[in-house]
Amino acid sequence: MNTYWSQYVQKTEELYLSRSLKFHRGNIDKWADMMQLRDGMKFLEVGCAGGLLCHRLKERFPNAEITGLDLDTGHIDFARRKSEELHLSCDFVAGDATMLPFADNVFDVCCSHTVMNFCNPEKFVREQYRVLKPGGKMVVMDVYNRGAAPEEWVPTGSSEEKRLFDKVWAAASENPKSHIKRYEDRTEKFPAYLAAQGFRNISVDALATVAYAPDFDNVDEETARAQINDDRISELCSAEKAYRMAPDALSESEYRSLLDMINDRYDRQLERYERGEKNWAFRVKTTVLFGGTK
Ligand SMILES: C[S@@+](CC[C@H](N)C(=O)[O-])C[C@H]1O[C@@H](n2cnc3c(N)ncnc32)[C@H](O)[C@@H]1O
Repeated sequence: MNTYWSQYVQKTEELYLSRSLKFHRGNIDKWADMMQLRDGMKFLEVGCAGGLLCHRLKERFPNAEITGLDLDTGHIDFARRKSEELHLSCDFVAGDATMLPFADNVFDVCCSHTVMNFCNPEKFVREQYRVLKPGGKMVVMDVYNRGAAPEEWVPTGSSEEKRLFDKVWAAASENPKSHIKRYEDRTEKFPAYLAAQGFRNISVDALATVAYAPDFDNVDEETARAQINDDRISELCSAEKAYRMAPDALSESEYRSLLDMINDRYDRQLERYERGEKNWAFRVKTTVLFGGTK
C-alpha cells in the first residue's frame, strides 16, 4: 500500500475537484481531439489520481476501454469508488509508471497530466512506448503558466492566519516527506525524451482554460461556487498536510483556529458572490500537450 501522494502531497478530493473544472464536460471534446482519442479505442492514463479525466472520457466515449494507473493506492481506491457512484466501467490499476503492468502493444492512446517530472523520464517514456500499439499516440500534458500571479486575486488572510500557516509549514519543511523527488523539471525538455525513445511526429499543442472567474456572466453559479471552493479546499489541504508532517508545530486549538480562519475567508467570499459584489478576478491556466506516434 502506497498512500504517500494522497497523504503528503495532494489529497485525492483536492485533485478531483480541481481537474473537474479543467476537464469539464463543455470542453472534453477539445482534450479528446488533441489526444486523437475516439470511441472504441483503448486508452491509458498514467498517474490518473482519483480518475477524473478517465471518468469524463468514459462518459463521452462509452465504448472506449479506459484504464487509469497510479502509484498511490488511496487515489486508486477513490477512483474505483467514484466509478461505481457514477456507474462508469473504467479500469483502475495501482502500479508504477516506470514498470507498467501491461503487455506490449495494447493501447491506442497513453496520456499523463502533470506526472512526468516525478518519474525517471527515460523509463516513463520507454514504458508507454512499449505498451502502445504501433501507430499509437503518447501525450504528455503539463501546466505551462508564465507570468501568472493568481495569489493577487485571493483576499489575503489575517496576520494571525498567516503566522500559523507559516509556522506549520516551516516545521513541515523539515520533514523529508515534504520534499517530493523531481527528475526533470523543465517541461521544455519533455519532447526530446519522446524523440530519443523513437516516437515520430512529435507535436506540441496547448489549451488555455479559465480556472477562476466567478464574477463573469458566462460562468454558471455551480461552477462559480466550485471555483471558490477549489481554492478553499486547496488551502485547507495544504494546512492539513503540513500539520500531518509536523503535528507538534501547532497546538490542537491553533490548528483548528487556522482551519476556521481559512473557512471564514472563503465563506465571506461566497457571501460577496451571493450579494453580487464583483471584482472581476480571473485566472487562466495553460496546459501544454506534447505528442508522439509510435
Ligand atoms: C501532480 S499529480 C497529478 C495527478 C493527475 N494526473 C491530475 O492531474 O490530477 C501526480 C500523480 O502522479 C502519481 N505518480 C507519481 N509517481 C508515479 C509513478 N512512478 N507511477 C505512477 N504514478 C505516479 C502520483 O501518485 C499523483 O497521483
